[in-house]
Amino acid sequence: MLFDLNPKESSKELFGRERELEELTHLVRARRWVAVLGPRMVGKTSLVKVAGAELKKAKTRVVYVNLWGAKGTGGLLKAVARGLNDEKSILREMKDLAQRIEGVSIGPGGISISISKKPMTTMWDLLEAIGSRAENCVIALDEVQEIVAISGRLLKLLANIFNTHPNIVFIFTGSMFGLMKTLLEPTSSSPLYGRSPAKLYLQPFPKELSIKFLRKGFEENKLTPEDEIINEAVERLDGIPGWLTLYGNNIAVRKLPHRKALEETISEGIKIVKDELEHFLEGRDKQAYLAALKATATSARWSEIKGAVEIAKASAVNDATIYRIIENLKAAMLIEEKDKTYRTNDPMLRKLLLTSQIT
Ligand SMILES: Nc1ncnc2c1ncn2[C@@H]1O[C@H](COP(=O)(O)OP(=O)(O)O)[C@@H](O)[C@H]1O
Ligand SMILES: [Mg+2]
Repeated sequence: MLFDLNPKESSKELFGRERELEELTHLVRARRWVAVLGPRMVGKTSLVKVAGAELKKAKTRVVYVNLWGAKGTGGLLKAVARGLNDEKSILREMKDLAQRIEGVSIGPGGISISISKKPMTTMWDLLEAIGSRAENCVIALDEVQEIVAISGRLLKLLANIFNTHPNIVFIFTGSMFGLMKTLLEPTSSSPLYGRSPAKLYLQPFPKELSIKFLRKGFEENKLTPEDEIINEAVERLDGIPGWLTLYGNNIAVRKLPHRKALEETISEGIKIVKDELEHFLEGRDKQAYLAALKATATSARWSEIKGAVEIAKASAVNDATIYRIIENLKAAMLIEEKDKTYRTNDPMLRKLLLTSQIT
């Protein structure tokens, strides 16, 4: 069902991404590492999961790892263990090797990790055990921005895997922040220099495709709303598949009338964006970042952003600080730069900032 709120897992349920799906599976089969990029709710996780399902049909091993909330190397290991526990056939094959790894045990409930002194070594041993078999294995790391704190050590490990186990192929997704940036634009001192992954950008749906998406979803539910209603929803939700899905679900599953469905989608969207933004702001200069973001909600030039931050801080702020704030916001895909102006690209984020629901 198109209006199902979970990430899609089969190609039947994935709408309008044929080209991207083809490209992703093609790259992976050619053993290219890939970074899937795009704003939140655009369908990155869905694309990766569906590509995984397609690859499995062709006898490729696939492990999906959700890093949301993972902290440090221990968190990474536990997330990988959870991913492996969803893939019983891979576990079965690597059982003998895995049992000998320090910090790893395999029982009837699957693989479990005990906190060891050297989690990165455990991680390496696990990957070696996976790579020791001949067939390709795809490891999809979703929400990689979560493990930015360990990116230095992880990059070294990834470079070693790249060199020694060409049958292990990584897919990275999440916001481009942190690890993504060092992965995608490695400097000459980075262990991954010269081996950066291919980038696959997911764009919001153009207007026509958004309309088709809603029409198809409504048809599945035997509904035929008026053109006007569809047009208004498409207009307000900016072609982001996740918001279109939520709106459709509000109507088809929750049976809300159009206006209410739209309002609820927007307030739910604002809530999700708010949680994510607060997560992003942890450990950063919240005042300065929010001032910069609020300035870009309507679009702002560099000097306007600087002015807004200085007003918020009630003091002069140096150019390097402003530069860093803007770079971080761009890297996190919260703002976009075009013709020397900066703008938040997400309709929900814009509403959140303009209605002062966050301070
Ligand atoms: N191409 C698509 N076809 C059908 N549903 C989609 C598509 N892209 C996204 N969705 C839906 O939108 C929501 C967000 O998708 P998700 O894959 O989680 O996005 P992301 O990982 O980019 O945040 C989910 O409910 C998902 O089912
Ligand atoms: Mg996702």
